[in-house]
Amino acid sequence: MPHPAESRIEGFYRLDPLERRARVRDFAHLDDATTAALAGGQLGLAKADKMIENVVGSYELPLGVATNFRINGRDHLVPMVVEEPSIVAGASYAARMARESGGFVASHTAPIMIGQIQLIAVADATSAMANIHAHRMQIIESANAQSQSMVARGGGVRDVECHHYADSPMGPMLIVHLLVDCRDAMGANAVNSMCETVAPLLESLSGGQAMLRILSNLTDQRLATAKVRIAPTSLQRDGIAGADVIERILWAHAFAVVDPHRATTHNKGIMNGIDPVIVATGNDWRAIEAGAHAWAARSGRYTSLSHWYRDEQGFLCGELTMPLAVGIVGGATRVHPTAQAALQVLNVAHAGELAEICVCAGLASNLAAMRALATEGIQRGHMALHARQIAMAAGALGDDVAVIAQKMIDMQSIKPATATALLQQIHVLAS
Ligand code: MEV
Repeated sequence: MPHPAESRIEGFYRLDPLERRARVRDFAHLDDATTAALAGGQLGLAKADKMIENVVGSYELPLGVATNFRINGRDHLVPMVVEEPSIVAGASYAARMARESGGFVASHTAPIMIGQIQLIAVADATSAMANIHAHRMQIIESANAQSQSMVARGGGVRDVECHHYADSPMGPMLIVHLLVDCRDAMGANAVNSMCETVAPLLESLSGGQAMLRILSNLTDQRLATAKVRIAPTSLQRDGIAGADVIERILWAHAFAVVDPHRATTHNKGIMNGIDPVIVATGNDWRAIEAGAHAWAARSGRYTSLSHWYRDEQGFLCGELTMPLAVGIVGGATRVHPTAQAALQVLNVAHAGELAEICVCAGLASNLAAMRALATEGIQRGHMALHARQIAMAAGALGDDVAVIAQKMIDMQSIKPATATALLQQIHVLAS
């Protein structure tokens, strides 16, 4: 059901966390239990103990909500779990600029994962590949029998491919790919089980020996795309005309296109938008990171994940296509109460829609970083938040945090010693 509410919430950042949570509840029509789950602290030791091994506790991170996102004409508040200041603000700011031109346009491919089975000691690779191809349907049926629930949901193995490596450090190998439509699941467990199930059949069809049987995190058939078009007027600031900001942003992008050292940081800025949504929804951020960077190097040279250009009307246009294997069923998405709540805030109909939101958050973060870097630099915005963290670390509470942070900025001395001295002054004045 589409949310009727708007994700542009004037002054959201000025509210306190309780008030913000109430606005999110109203936006997404959450019940009390789900709203409470957003507050955190609900995983509990018993559940945590079943998720991983050797549990001694759980670990908290801030959960923020990025505002202003409009994607394919629909508004979203985007939950983000992250430790770094400026990310939620940057994504919200860029989403606001995007919104002024209609927001993001996003799409996704079918959720196809690749399972790999490594076959060694294959005497005749050409006839093994022909035999595997001839028994394609038998392989598909055997794999699908292993994951009937995925098949019942409309997914399952779509195809079988062979890749022959005539040489490797250990000798030749034949790699069989199962192309699996995972529907709303990320699919790691199902794909790995399928690979293990069909391995003996592949051994007999190839005459070889199966070694590794595991999914690939380079999910280059499970992609999501975001596009955005920003008016120069939305970008102008501090005496710099919008057209000039665009020119500077295009130089920033060009730097990332040609230079792998810059591309790595540029892409980190994209992942700043994506990983927090992945974590908030209980998805596997290591898988997403691995896939993203492998995709960025697919030409043989590591480069920018995003593409930016100026169109004939002088608007800044951005595009980001990348692998995004996310699920909305199974795994931690089901177990973790706050992940469940985050998914309810997003109110997505299927996993592809979650992938679309993630890729838009990535493009937004990329735009926010490039705009800041290409104009006043990244530190001014960072320093304000950094100053608050230093003030809190020195023991400031409540309104004192903002007061001390601002004083440190004015003094151009954002240091623990300055924060401690200012806090002492406040205490002396109050006593
Ligand atoms: C910091 O977390 C991310 C940036 O370094 C990204 C970039 O340089 O584009 C600001």
